[in-house]
Formats: sequence, structure tokens, C-alpha cells
Amino acid sequence: MSSATAPTSSSTTSPPTWPPPSGRSPPPRAGRAGHTRSRPVTTTVITNIGSLVTNTPGLGEGPLGLLRDAAVVIDGDRIAWAGPAGRAPAADASYDAGGRAAVPGFVDSHSHLVFAGDRTEEFNARMSGRPYTAGGIRTTVAATRAASDEELDANVARFVTEALRQGTTTIETKSGYGLTPHDEARALRIAAAHTSETTYLGAHIVAPEYAGDPAAYVDLVTGPMLDACAPYARWVDVFCEEGAFDGDQARTILTAGAKRGLVPRVHANQLSYGPGVRLAVELGAASADHCTHLTPEDVDALAQSGSTVATLLPGAEFSTRARYPDARRLIDAGATVALSTDCNPGSSFTTAMPFCIAIAVRDMGMTPDEALQAATLGGAKALRRTDVGRVAPGACADIALLDAPSHVHLAYRPGVPLVSAVWRRGVRELG
Ligand code: NIG
Ligand code: FE
Repeated sequence: MSSATAPTSSSTTSPPTWPPPSGRSPPPRAGRAGHTRSRPVTTTVITNIGSLVTNTPGLGEGPLGLLRDAAVVIDGDRIAWAGPAGRAPAADASYDAGGRAAVPGFVDSHSHLVFAGDRTEEFNARMSGRPYTAGGIRTTVAATRAASDEELDANVARFVTEALRQGTTTIETKSGYGLTPHDEARALRIAAAHTSETTYLGAHIVAPEYAGDPAAYVDLVTGPMLDACAPYARWVDVFCEEGAFDGDQARTILTAGAKRGLVPRVHANQLSYGPGVRLAVELGAASADHCTHLTPEDVDALAQSGSTVATLLPGAEFSTRARYPDARRLIDAGATVALSTDCNPGSSFTTAMPFCIAIAVRDMGMTPDEALQAATLGGAKALRRTDVGRVAPGACADIALLDAPSHVHLAYRPGVPLVSAVWRRGVRELG
């Protein structure tokens, strides 16, 4: 953050124009008169925001709480005020958004960032017609076990930064490529240095050493591995799928995790129909993730559930050439939907939430407003967070500024790097 030294106005006098005259993000300007160099900047007003999604209906129009010609005041790591630019209170420093659109920082509620190596060959073969199966996970398990702590930490840091550049300010990430008590705990310890949203996924697949005795592996996952991992995890997850864990095994593992204070979330109904979604709802999981193959009963269960979010991961269908989940059907039934990247080296090697938004709008029946909200507020709900995913007084100061006049451009201009500035917990990390 810059220090405030020069006297300038911190409010906007002219309405935002698009495109901004310079075509580039202007530098931040210093704050109000009388401010001395010795006093640290604590408040910043971002002004001249052409269109601001607050996800707070009371602050603006419609479900997005949309404001035009808006301003936001950041105080430390929190939002202190959001509203019409002309009414913005004075602040120590100001940043001219140049008429750009601003959205809450994306909340990516599902990723697998602790791994080594990649699976380029597998992807290449798949694009030549070979189907995706859970078995490829073993390749990454071998590479991850062989990697040093420093290598894994550097990989997580790189992906978190890559995601940040695309507007992601909150990210969940999982273990699941270690599959021994030592390697799973190591993955979670490394992940916890980068995010508080860590998920124990010892039940990603049955570890290769236990291929002939899956019951013994479930005992390990619910026993010594859970003991080693619980201190570093907030959530427990299971890949409930043919080739991974069946419904009974998943129930045993999720229940054991819950007894240790880890809240369940489930990889459910990704590759085939199965018990995952209904199990997630029955156990009050925070999220059922993937939801690609859903029966009418699955949709009803999600719609009736007050607590389980349907998290859709279109990067996985894109990269496995599978059919996309039907977001429209879920929304029309009344389910809460989140969008997330599922970033992992096998089925979805992307950190780009804007890419997921574009697919969701083009191929999953979501409107641009619904997709934007699912990628922000939806992700926050999937992580049971009320302090992220919206721009409102008291929320974390997490904001992405777009080189565009409207959030709709995230779908309208697919593949274009529109994120031009990002504040995370009040710190301008980009732009
Ligand atoms: O969410 N489905 C299980 N886990 C990942 C894929 C992991 C991998 O292929 O390495 C997913 O798609
Ligand atoms: Fe996943």
C-alpha cells in the first residue's frame, strides 16, 4: 500500500467513462490534505468504479446488489463502506478505478494444489480418445511422495499466486496425493501455510500399497492418518466414485472425520451416478462437489438441503471431454450452486475462475449474474464463510477490478485476462 503524502481529493466529481482515457490502471493517489508521512495509511477509497457487484441486495440493485458509479472504502483488512462514489467518506488514500467494473474476489472452494509433476502425457492421450479414470491419480501420488517439502511449498505458492492474478482471494485446497499418514499430514501442513481452508482427502483413492485390501486402507484413513492430519485440516473429503470409495466406505470416513471436528465435503457423482450426493446431504456436508451425474432424487436432495451447496467444477468436464453438469436444473430446483476450478494435474489443470464462469454461462445454462455470484458468494457458502464473497461493511477487503465496464465481460470475453487489480485482505496485490 502506498503512503499518503500529497493533498488530493478523495471523492469523484465526474461519472465514470469507458474505456478509461489512458487504457491502463492509474497509479494510486495520495490522500487528503494535512496527512503526514509518519502516519501509516489505514483507509483507502477505491473510487470511480463504473459498476460494482456487492452481492449485498441492500446496497444496490437486484440479487447482485449492483451499484453504478460506486466507491469502496477499505480500512485495514476489512471493507468499511461501499456506496455511490459521490457519497464516499474521506480516506487516507484513494485509488481511481477509471470506470472499471469491480467484483468481490473469487472464492475458489475446491482445488488440489499440493502435488508435484504433471500429467501432460495423460492429457494428450485423452485428447486422442482415451477416457479419464481415477487411476491416473497414482502417477501424481508417486511424484508427490518423491518431492521435497520445499518443492511442494513452491508449487502451492505458485498456484496461489497464479489464482490471485485471476482474481481469486480465497482458496480451499486438499491433500490426497500422499496417501500415507506422513505424506498426507505433510501436504496439509504445507497447504495450511497458504490458506486456512484445508481439506483432508486421504480417501482420494486406495493407496497403491493397499490395493488388495481396501478395508485396511479405510482403517488407516480413519485411524492413524486422521490422527496425523486433523491438526492441519478444517474439512474432510472423500472421492465417492467407482474406482475410489463406495458409499459405505465414504460414510465411515466422513463420520470419523466429523467426530474429530472436520466438516464433511464430498467428491460426488463426478464420473457416474452414485450415492455421493445423497450421502453429502444426509451428513450435512458443506458441499457436494462435481454433481455431474444427478438423478431427480439427487437434485431434490440438494434443493431441500439447507446446508449442502452443489459445487460445479466445469474445468474437469472441459479437460476430460465429459458432459457438463446442468446448473440450470439445480438452480431452478432451488439448490445453492458454487463454481470452482478443481485445479489438479489430472482432470482440471486450471486456476482460472473467469474461465469457469465463461463455461458455466456458455454450456451450463447459467446467466452471467448467476455464474459471477456462484464464483464468489456461492464459494463462500460452500466454505461456510460470511466474511468473503461480498463487498459490504465488515467483510474482508477482497476485490477484483476488471479491465471491462461490467462483470458480464467475464463470460462475454472468454480467455481474455480482464483482472487488472486485486486487493486481498486490504492489500493491493496486483495492479
Ligand atoms: O476432483 N475426482 C477426484 N479428484 C480430482 C482429480 C484428481 C486427479 O485426476 O489427479 C477431481 O477431479
Ligand atoms: Fe477435486
